[in-house]
Amino acid sequence: MKTDILLGLQWGDEGKGKVVDVLSPSYNIVARFQGGPNAGHTLEIAGKKHVLHTIPSGIFHSNVLNVIGNGVVIDPISFVDEIRELDSLGTDICKRLIVSKRAHLILPTHRLLDAFSEAQKGTKKIGSTLKGIGPAYMDKTGRNGLRIGDIMEKYFTKRYQDLLDKHKKLLGSFEYDAKGLAENEKKWMNAIDFIRKSLTCIDTEYFLNESLKQGKKILAEGAQGSLLDIDFGSYPYVTSSSTTCAGACIGLGIAPSLIGSVEGVFKAYCTRVGSGPFPTELSDETGDKICQVGREFGSTTGRKRRCGWLDLPALKRAIMLSGVSSLDMMKIDVLNDFDEVKICTHYLIDGQKTDRLPYNLSEAIKPVYKSFKGWGKFPFMGSKFDSLPIQLKNYIQFIEEAVGVPVKLLSLGPDREQTILR
Ligand code: GDP
Ligand code: IMO
Ligand code: MG
Repeated sequence: MKTDILLGLQWGDEGKGKVVDVLSPSYNIVARFQGGPNAGHTLEIAGKKHVLHTIPSGIFHSNVLNVIGNGVVIDPISFVDEIRELDSLGTDICKRLIVSKRAHLILPTHRLLDAFSEAQKGTKKIGSTLKGIGPAYMDKTGRNGLRIGDIMEKYFTKRYQDLLDKHKKLLGSFEYDAKGLAENEKKWMNAIDFIRKSLTCIDTEYFLNESLKQGKKILAEGAQGSLLDIDFGSYPYVTSSSTTCAGACIGLGIAPSLIGSVEGVFKAYCTRVGSGPFPTELSDETGDKICQVGREFGSTTGRKRRCGWLDLPALKRAIMLSGVSSLDMMKIDVLNDFDEVKICTHYLIDGQKTDRLPYNLSEAIKPVYKSFKGWGKFPFMGSKFDSLPIQLKNYIQFIEEAVGVPVKLLSLGPDREQTILR
């Protein structure tokens, strides 16, 4: 068996959580491979909304095992809160969850360091979710980090204290709430205790590879999106992990030869939350309308998402970077109300037409648009592609031909039922 991958092709929030939930019944295991509680993956089931941050989106299926891979960074406080919230719905989450001993821990001081870093950047701030992601990955690559496996060891408290002291030195004159930190430390240690006693923490790389040998089906769930990738995103306005297909190999310990299909999720338009360049951004009433109709507010921070038309050069590049074999087009219903819908096919840079993203996305880029007649409101007729309005079919066909990859899933609303599988 091979591992299939599902990832976001834009600036995150494409609707990955919904798709993973829809596809989960076909898999035995769903595994997160990077990111941490900066992610907010929304699932709507029978009119109820659930937002997951660290827990994989297969969790609502009783026969699916959910794995948090080595590439993820875990904040014990928010992780345990999330487990307790789901448990209160009557699901025994701990039985459906396995955590890699190699996953790194986010300390309360990582969050302070995140705030400090953003304060230092001033107007050039990243617009981070302030969940401590960057500083935790810095400690990982700087070889200072603490991992889930360490919480079982006698040296844990000493190593924690050493890292805490180091962070306090780094924080220097940065003003923070010392009492608040002390309270968070207590909560953090209680959460560590819960993880130690209640969760299965193992070498997930062995577990996953053995599962594949036994014929089990694995779906790797990405967080964030290709344009936020540490190497290929709009650096420095990115997150601190590898959000492309390669990130799944590193973040789970699965060899490239064991990767099966790569499914890319994108919205019928574009959004971005936080700072950084966004070539097709609409800073006008059309952008406001997409934001309102699409309820484009961050699942993790509640911030307003910036909105714009679909950007094909960016989408094509994301498909190239991950070898995407099929596409899932989300939030089509949000554009139902528009008489005209546009797609950016190229950029004009210094008067030259190109469909390549320049090294510096912040330079003067003029998007070149192709206009489409809107498809108008239409009733959801169940899972029939053929019954869709012709204008919508034209829009989809244009995208498929331009990027050379088929759209296999169409999403027409937030609920798991509002989905067409072709
Ligand atoms: P993720 O981070 O990629 O999982 O995406 P988010 O959950 O952060 O953001 C996607 C938002 O769009 C959530 O509020 C979803 O409930 C919602 N959503 C997903 N698919 C659709 C859709 O087809 N139509 C509409 N209107 N909303 C959708
Ligand atoms: P999901 O998985 C959208 C953005 C932040 C910020 C930048 C860096 O729900 O798609 P960080 O907290 O990583 O230091 O923030 O990345 N960002 C996301 N935007 N969806 C996400 O996750 C995001 N995770 C981080 O807004 O611009
Ligand atoms: Mg999200």
